[in-house]
Amino acid sequence: MNKIIVIAHQKGGVGKSTIAANLATELSKKFQVDIIDLDLQKSLTYYNNLRSNSGLNPLNVIQVDSPTMLKAIINNNQKLLLIDAGGYDSDINRVAISGADILITPVSDSGIELVGLLAFRTILRDIRTFRPDIKANVLLNKIHTRAGNASLEEIYSFINENPEFSRLTSILRDRIDYKRAFDCGKSVVEFNNKAAQEMKGLIDEVIKNG
Ligand SMILES: Nc1ncnc2c1ncn2[C@@H]1O[C@H](COP(=O)(O)OP(=O)(O)OP(=O)(O)O)[C@@H](O)[C@H]1O
Ligand SMILES: [Mg+2]
Repeated sequence: MNKIIVIAHQKGGVGKSTIAANLATELSKKFQVDIIDLDLQKSLTYYNNLRSNSGLNPLNVIQVDSPTMLKAIINNNQKLLLIDAGGYDSDINRVAISGADILITPVSDSGIELVGLLAFRTILRDIRTFRPDIKANVLLNKIHTRAGNASLEEIYSFINENPEFSRLTSILRDRIDYKRAFDCGKSVVEFNNKAAQEMKGLIDEVIKNG
């Protein structure tokens, strides 16, 4: 799979690194994957150290420190590249978004999430001046296990009304096991719990999209 998957949202704490760690771990079992960690806390690097220390197969995390270096990696990419963008707007994050074949934007279902998406839409509109096809695939994350469609309607109608966005059908629920698995350096699939099924569904959907 010769694609660039970018998990991006300038809003912090929406689950970018958690989702990136899970996708990276599971996709690395099927494909050759390079991972770029643009998170200020270096969450994926931390996760990868936990994996190595526990004797699990480490991910191939590449250190990138400038927009120019990232551009070169994107332009020469020959395999699956997965980028965990930082939760802030910057040149390097915009380079990452601009290079995406599959752009995934996690959001939850509270009203404040719409404000975050409005700010992200401004960034996408700038990028669409030279990449008119770019679209963010909104991934609903941290959704209460009992929340039905009613609580998601506001987000769904925002996505329908804005050509900058489309939606993944997979939904990731609010589950403590996402934190527990991450803290052991494991994907939720390796951790083997209820979250595993929804993560497997997301991975199938991402592979189909690619
Ligand atoms: N589906 C989920 N269920 C429960 N907790 C979750 C879920 N997804 C993420 N979290 C938790 O939400 C918090 C923020 O997640 P994460 O660090 O992945 O966000 P982020 O978007 O990468 O943040 P930043 O913008 O700071 O890089 C973490 O404590 C993580 O464990
Ligand atoms: Mg992060």
